[in-house]
Amino acid sequence: MKILGISGSLRRASFNTALLHAAQELAPEGVSIAIHDLHGLPLFDQDVEEQGDPAPVAALKQAIEEADGVLLASPEYNGGITGVLKNAIDWASRPGLGRPASVLAGRRICIVGASPGITGTVRAQDQLRQVLRRAGAAAEPQSEVLVFQAHTKILDGKLVDERTREALARHLKSYVALLQAGVR
Ligand SMILES: Cc1cc2nc3c(=O)[nH]c(=O)nc-3n(C[C@H](O)[C@H](O)[C@H](O)COP(=O)(O)O)c2cc1C
Repeated sequence: MKILGISGSLRRASFNTALLHAAQELAPEGVSIAIHDLHGLPLFDQDVEEQGDPAPVAALKQAIEEADGVLLASPEYNGGITGVLKNAIDWASRPGLGRPASVLAGRRICIVGASPGITGTVRAQDQLRQVLRRAGAAAEPQSEVLVFQAHTKILDGKLVDERTREALARHLKSYVALLQAGVR
């Protein structure tokens, strides 16, 4: 089973990208997680879209389409998801030329998030659930991985907090079980 990991942060030392790296280590057996980099994805522009998807957009859509599941790691900016992630979702939500439906339609999408504050991206994750729903996808499973005080749990890009590692592993296991149970 192939899962596509996408970080909503472009920052080199991103806690959220680090969470994706931890997910790669903690994924259930037989599950691989490839990380798709959003550097280079242009800002959504409907005039550009009408000319056909730019290469980074086409690559993003193809990667989502080919993956069995998608794992989004979202920072929280001003109580919501980052522009980087929203932009990626906006592009992916559009079928574009020659595709009958959005690559997000009907998909189950796993979400996680980390922030140095004490709320651990809870507001961003609530918003992300709503945005995904509007795009025809569902955030699954219902359990949450809210990595608060991330700077104490992620050191040098590695998730070292054992309880958080266990929570992430459980979350991924539930997600994979849902994917295996049927509708992707
Ligand atoms: C513009 C901006 C707004 C932010 N707003 C919030 C916020 O609302 N809640 C929060 O917990 N952290 C907030 N932060 C702090 C981020 O959680 C922190 O920078 C985090 O490390 C970003 O994720 P990353 O490490 O994956 O890049 C904000 C940071 C920026 C740059």
